[in-house]
Amino acid sequence: MKRSFINKIVDEAIEFSKSLHMTLPKFAYISAEDWKKADQDSWAEVFDLELGWDVTDYGSDDFYKSGTCLFTLRNGSLKDERYNKPYAEKMMIIEDGQVLPYHFHTYKMEDILNRGGGTLCIKCYWATEDDKLDTERPVEITFDSQKVVFKPGDVIRIPVGSGVTLPPRLYHSIWAEDGKVMSWEVSKVNDDHTDNTYLAGCPRFSEIDEDEPMKWCLCNEYDKVRK
Ligand SMILES: [Fe+2]
Repeated sequence: MKRSFINKIVDEAIEFSKSLHMTLPKFAYISAEDWKKADQDSWAEVFDLELGWDVTDYGSDDFYKSGTCLFTLRNGSLKDERYNKPYAEKMMIIEDGQVLPYHFHTYKMEDILNRGGGTLCIKCYWATEDDKLDTERPVEITFDSQKVVFKPGDVIRIPVGSGVTLPPRLYHSIWAEDGKVMSWEVSKVNDDHTDNTYLAGCPRFSEIDEDEPMKWCLCNEYDKVRK
């Protein structure tokens, strides 16, 4: 992905959240240049837990086909005792027609919510012991805390205000219909480096082509601004 494209996507994410009257934490609006001048010791939690912006195309080279723009508001750590917060919260903006590829989490349980925009759609399959899709086992999940049973691969449509709870080892692919979606994730601690298993084995973070200066520092590249 080009840096100019990442800069534009984060600008658009800020505008989209404003249009839905959602104000993000202070560190969402700190530019790469301002991070360099900031009191960095006081922001150690943001750096250490990789909170903040994340733009990925999962290595597809086509963000609008497969990708998303995320912002991690809070998180804990499974290995660092200084950060024993047991939960995480993320904003996830999904463009109309954009798909997040099938993956499951070994540790994390997550609620995926629709906070505004179009319809959030999701398909689920249990993972088999060898990490393939289980096309037989019914998918029992809670939808707005109501128990619902879906057939594997059924399209689950989540309107604005609603959400589903996804347990570990449940493969899920997510996309948006009828407009861009402001999706939200409330979960156990999130570790994108170790806890995601992708069915197609795609990378979680994208290669960046530095075609213009970095405006927004992504969550996995704070070493570029940290002193
Ligand atoms: Fe997930």
